[in-house]
Amino acid sequence: MLIRLYDGNREVLRPLFRLADDSEQEIDRYVGLGDVLVAEDNGELVGQLQLTATAEPSTFELKSMAVIDGRRGGGIGRALVEEAIALCRARGATHLLVATAAADIDNLRFYQRRGFRMLSIERDAFTAAAGYPDGIVIDGIPLRDRVWLDQELAL
Ligand SMILES: CC(C)(COP(=O)(O)OP(=O)(O)OC[C@H]1O[C@@H](n2cnc3c(N)ncnc32)[C@H](O)[C@@H]1OP(=O)(O)O)[C@@H](O)C(=O)NCCC(=O)NCCS
Repeated sequence: MLIRLYDGNREVLRPLFRLADDSEQEIDRYVGLGDVLVAEDNGELVGQLQLTATAEPSTFELKSMAVIDGRRGGGIGRALVEEAIALCRARGATHLLVATAAADIDNLRFYQRRGFRMLSIERDAFTAAAGYPDGIVIDGIPLRDRVWLDQELAL
């Protein structure tokens, strides 16, 4: 498995972006931003991670990440995050931010295991106005609030 910076057409990656976000409207807004790391196995794109700049030059955001269904739980996500952290450090960043749904317990675990800590809650972030269909439920929890996490990148 190879992790590399992606330099192709971002639309090719849209199915991967969709795995991480239920709002096509939101994906349209950020799909072209920043850099994307892809995990490639025998020529197949099996995962992606998008890093974007923030208003604070020393902070990057892990904006989107996903691993294809049949390949989850095999360490690809972990490897993508490790590579993203190395890239942020190489660029002199001191902090990495990520947001996920409060309803998504697996993601909250995944990010905390990768060194992220809870920062803030954005209530009612996943609205119809932002392109989220009504009635999305994850693990029995309605999709409503967004959790922000961050980690300090020791140099
Ligand atoms: C989140 C995601 C990218 C993780 O990628 P992955 O390749 O499955 O992750 P890894 O195999 O590196 O697993 C890392 C850890 O999570 C655990 N894990 C992975 N998938 C899990 C699952 N479905 N349920 C519980 N634990 C899981 C692994 O056991 C491992 O545990 P560890 O930290 O104790 O070592 C992947 O599950 C995914 O694509 N999810 C759907 C898209 C998504 O929600 N993206 C994030 C949006 S914010």
